[in-house]
Amino acid sequence: MRGINYDNKLILAPMVRVGTLPMRLLALDYGADIVYTEELIDWKFLKTVRRENDILGTVDFIDKSDGTIVFRTCNREKDKVVVQIGTCDANRALKVAKLIEDDIAGIDINMGCPKEFSLKGGMGAALLRDPEKAKEILTTLVKNVKIPVTCKIRVFENVDDTIWLVKQLASTGIAAIAVHGRTKQERPQHPNRNYMIKAIRENVNIPVIANGGSRQIEKYSDIEAFRQDCGASSVMIARTAQGNCSIFRPEGMKELDDVIVDYLKYAVDYDNSPNNTKYCVQNMLKELQETPRGKKFLECQTLEQICAIWNLAQYCRKKQLEYNEKGILGRRQISP
Ligand code: FNR
Repeated sequence: MRGINYDNKLILAPMVRVGTLPMRLLALDYGADIVYTEELIDWKFLKTVRRENDILGTVDFIDKSDGTIVFRTCNREKDKVVVQIGTCDANRALKVAKLIEDDIAGIDINMGCPKEFSLKGGMGAALLRDPEKAKEILTTLVKNVKIPVTCKIRVFENVDDTIWLVKQLASTGIAAIAVHGRTKQERPQHPNRNYMIKAIRENVNIPVIANGGSRQIEKYSDIEAFRQDCGASSVMIARTAQGNCSIFRPEGMKELDDVIVDYLKYAVDYDNSPNNTKYCVQNMLKELQETPRGKKFLECQTLEQICAIWNLAQYCRKKQLEYNEKGILGRRQISP
């Protein structure tokens, strides 16, 4: 089997709209070992066609009906990227996995999303209450794909119920399990149940990836403290990385402006959509959006306008000209 080992790793968590290619590459540059994509819904993936983009050096999965890019990846992340799928159906999940398994390192099934869209569709956290379905999806994938399969869950109120579920899921042959230490009802302000992750770890033999620690992770050494608190093999970070992806740097975090510059260069290099780029930068700026510069940023509509605020207008123009000449900008990614 090809693919990754989940022991002792630092991982960029799956985040809708945030975990697109520029952010994943940035996380890898800063020191993440594994990067998860945003959750991608199975039926959306099944409407795509695979295209190699020679100009950008990417592999694109493009929606056949409207030309939008559902998933863009590249060689640099091939052995590190895990695609998270939102699904409630083993056959659909398998079809997606077969479509992408040669281009990625792992497949993850989202079993933690508490949003109504997921729950109504029997996806995300709905699978926690349907262990037979969850096991069917995982077993089907484990048996039929070449790369490791994992899932990401939330916990129940009760430790024993949670351990029982994890044992069921682990019995399918998954390579690891990511555990967000909050229940489906709990929000980010609730404390993460690190003790529950520890109890899980003591009861299963596969790597447990601790998640939910962003509130206690403000600097690099906090990551190890969180890992130890949870007795876990690996740590997966979402919100702290969303705010400043350089949390993965052992040598310490970079200034936010420098992180934004690094991010924007990747956004330009990989022709990321202005919408998605703006969303990600907004999540980095947070309350700084209220400053005069932040307000100017909010008015930006093009990549070049955004870049200009961080003195990268020329960098952006040059790349875009180059891509224009090669004729790719007509195929720009349009994010949701
Ligand atoms: C998320 N989270 C999430 N989880 C998941 O399994 N699939 C997803 O697509 C998303 N999307 C997403 C978007 C954004 C903007 C945020 C902030 C979070 C949840 C995330 O992966 C993680 O489980 C929680 O944020 C808890 O970890 P932290 O933030 O404490 O490190």
